[in-house]
Amino acid sequence: MSPKPIAAITGLGTAVPPRIVPNSEFEKYLETSDQWIVERTGIRERRIAAPDQTLASLCHEASLGALAMAGLSAEQLDAIVLGTVTPDRRLPATACDLQAILGAKRAAAFDIAAACPGWIFSLAVAEGLIASGRAANVLAIGAEKLSTVTDWNDRSTAVLFGDGAGASIVQPAPGDGRGILSIILGTDGKLADLLYIKGGGSAEPISAKVVEERSHFIRMAGREVFKAAVHTMARACAQALAKAGVTSEEIDLLIPHQANLRIIEATAKHAQVPMSKVMVNLDRYGNTSAASIQLAIGQALEEGRIQRGSLLLLVTFGAGFTWGSAVVRW
Ligand code: ACO
Repeated sequence: MSPKPIAAITGLGTAVPPRIVPNSEFEKYLETSDQWIVERTGIRERRIAAPDQTLASLCHEASLGALAMAGLSAEQLDAIVLGTVTPDRRLPATACDLQAILGAKRAAAFDIAAACPGWIFSLAVAEGLIASGRAANVLAIGAEKLSTVTDWNDRSTAVLFGDGAGASIVQPAPGDGRGILSIILGTDGKLADLLYIKGGGSAEPISAKVVEERSHFIRMAGREVFKAAVHTMARACAQALAKAGVTSEEIDLLIPHQANLRIIEATAKHAQVPMSKVMVNLDRYGNTSAASIQLAIGQALEEGRIQRGSLLLLVTFGAGFTWGSAVVRW
């Protein structure tokens, strides 16, 4: 039997920058091709923010959508939890800037750095705040401006990433069985050196050397990350299903992190969910890290692929390594 949910997602909004960058842009200056990128990743285009479009502004747009769907005003928010590894500045947290823009006067606001699973981690914190009675209305966001930490001269990563934001309102579960049935979180810090940004932190503060060595950009051992992602997401799906007391046959839609179509296909196979029940939109947005699952949920809602009561399996994996999965009755 499924556990009684404590919290539910009652509103969701998304935002992406208007500028579309198709694969053909990279053909102009990198040794790559649209065919290679599509075959190896499934990505056809991504959105890239203008230099003056801040992460906070993307979060703001997504948050307004989430508040509207939940029928809530910003003044009613108790907390804002933002999963991101690309904050607008080192200090303060981008969640604080967002709190000011929204006018969410009552809300405590902070960022969480958990890479691609940043939103699932935010969701877990939101659920915990509600369970402890500390909050009733939480804004849980996942958002990235990965274009600012991408080395545009490195073909092995430049073609993968994009910018975007997703925001959810999390509130006490309505009591009719809908809500978050399970969340699994995990980390294996021993594998941190397979996907990282070396320079620009407090261990190696930004300097002429850091810029010259381009170590303020993402470096990734793609093949190793690929293998770990498949293995770990398969396990995380099984754990989330078991904790929620449901089987894979009961899942209406699997919404995986949108990093690579081949990883998604392998994850679906392990989870025993047919591709007809898998949400894929990385062809339009690339890998938007903490934003990706909500961008996929937003599109699925628009397309009518998620209805009230739909059973969703969410799963994600990223730098850390970190991973997260959840079963949600919508
Ligand atoms: N165009 C053409 N060739 C390329 C490109 C490119 N854009 N990029 C790499 N290649 C070459 C490589 O140099 C290599 O050439 P070689 O055989 O001569 O050495 C060849 O293509 C194959 O490279 P692989 O790395 O083995 O290719 P693979 O099939 O593994 O695909 C990819 C690479 C797309 C990066 C894949 O490994 C992947 O998706 N990895 C996982 C990424 C991921 O899931 N990240 C999640 C977290 S992201 C986050 O946390 C922010």
